[in-house]
Amino acid sequence: MRQDAQPIAGELGSSAGVRHRLLVVDPIHETALRHFREMYDVVVHMQPSPEALRRLICEANVLIMRSGVTIDADILAAATSLKIIARAGSGVDNIDLEAARNRGIAIFNVPDAGTVSVAEFTFGMLICLVRKIALADRQMHRNLWKKTELLGMELSGKTIAVVGYGRIGARVATIAQGFAMHVLAVVERTAPERRIEMERRGVALVDFREALERADVISLHVPLTERTRNLIGTTELQAMKRGAFLVNMARGGVVDEAALHRALTSGEIAGAAIDVFRVERQYSALMELDNVIATPHIGAMTDATQKKIGVQLLENIAAGLAGGSIANRII
Ligand code: MLT
Repeated sequence: MRQDAQPIAGELGSSAGVRHRLLVVDPIHETALRHFREMYDVVVHMQPSPEALRRLICEANVLIMRSGVTIDADILAAATSLKIIARAGSGVDNIDLEAARNRGIAIFNVPDAGTVSVAEFTFGMLICLVRKIALADRQMHRNLWKKTELLGMELSGKTIAVVGYGRIGARVATIAQGFAMHVLAVVERTAPERRIEMERRGVALVDFREALERADVISLHVPLTERTRNLIGTTELQAMKRGAFLVNMARGGVVDEAALHRALTSGEIAGAAIDVFRVERQYSALMELDNVIATPHIGAMTDATQKKIGVQLLENIAAGLAGGSIANRII
């Protein structure tokens, strides 16, 4: 539930001489960081261990974070001065929302800013995967000219299933249509007007099973929740076409990575493009496979997106600390 206009419990106020303390634990745009340093006491510690985070968070009034940390009840118990958690992006699956609510901490995210970047990146990854561009590049770096191994798939006329038709999914659908692909969409539930809109745009709403069976490309754009955890596992991978590709730009936990590894090595599916892993900054056997292309969660890493996020962070944090309303407030 959004509570945009609700003041923060135990609001700090903007009393003269008070410099609020900000803790930044994930990358944000340098311009925003510069402004924050002018206005607040800022501590930057990229992706601290849970122990370090517990120590650092004691002092903070505001935490700025992305996907690089987990904010669980244990961490929040140490956050005795914390008033605001600013999620510099959209996903809040790594925050214990209930524990934050119980402690009266306001949380907001910035859900719109990454839409274009993530959708464009999805297509970059998809083309790279189906045309084996990353594999070719890896070979060329070793002066290997293996043209016959690099036969790819044309996207035109193929079917893509967009799983999760929110902001990013809808944008991916539009780009796919630009490549003359047929677009299927899978949504959990949708309002009648949304269905009409999808129909008008030539996007066919199908159930998950049908999407798995019909699509040449499955592209995941759902948040990680208890309902979407391991959404793609052995059964789903077996239901996919043998030559199909999987693109995961959503969250690592949406895919059973062991099952995916089996499907990729047994030839059950043709390949996977992965920007998100269940555990980040850790080795995954998936990265060893030639039919996998992997990136370190960079879908939203463009200057445009990060700038927009920075502006929203500045506005919302200043408003929140002054007792005003916070845009995109989650709790
Ligand atoms: C998000 O949820 O906005 C994305 O995962 C981007 C990110 O935080 O890196």
